[in-house]
Amino acid sequence: MAISKNLTNISTIIVLTLLFSLATAKKSHRFHRSKSPISLGLHKEKLSHLHFYFHDILSGPKPTAIRVAEAHMTNTSSTLFGVVVMADDPLTVGPEPGSKQVGRAQGIYGSAAQDETGLLMVMNLAFTEGKYNGSTLSMLGRNTVFSAVREMPIVGGSGAFRFARGYAQAKTHSFDPKTGDAVVEYNVYAFHY
Ligand SMILES: *[C@@H]1O[C@H](CO)[C@@H](O)[C@H](O)[C@H]1NC(C)=O
Ligand SMILES: *[C@@H]1O[C@H](CO)[C@@H](O)[C@H](O)[C@H]1NC(C)=O
Repeated sequence: MAISKNLTNISTIIVLTLLFSLATAKKSHRFHRSKSPISLGLHKEKLSHLHFYFHDILSGPKPTAIRVAEAHMTNTSSTLFGVVVMADDPLTVGPEPGSKQVGRAQGIYGSAAQDETGLLMVMNLAFTEGKYNGSTLSMLGRNTVFSAVREMPIVGGSGAFRFARGYAQAKTHSFDPKTGDAVVEYNVYAFHY
């Protein structure tokens, strides 16, 4: 008698557990819902200005930017139209090569213009310093490298830069036409939380 009562209790518990897990499973599969920005810690949007130097080194035993693709006609084009370069370029506080590193610019740039030197830049600026360590800004834009100042949109970010939007201004600090090595000064202005 006691055993069959226990069995009934156990099966009741099993059925209830099943029903409960079905109910919660249904809940956790909800595809979308509205949330208040505060619940994600998004209180007040702020504007940050970042200043650093970008070192694009093509020459020597340890280049930071390497040609990964090109078209048949790329070398006959005055703008190297079609070339694609993968870069992992140091970002530093000052323009000297040994200056303190604050991050890396990791991504791709390619020659996307035939009549002037105009690059398509697709870069993640991955910071490694201070409160921005581990946070990234994503930059996507057009870089006419021989213009005095080029402006490229900041289209997003991660970590401290979630929801980022803004712009980067690039100004060549030094350029060696023989090797293609360049140091570029960057001023980045971004809204984020
Ligand atoms: C184009 O020139 C580069 C640099 O001199 C060289 O590495 C590459 O092999 C050349 N590509 C073609 C298709 O000739
Ligand atoms: C940045 O974060 C990494 C990973 O957490 C850590 O190893 C590194 O020491 C940090 N760097 C600085 C400068 O705080």
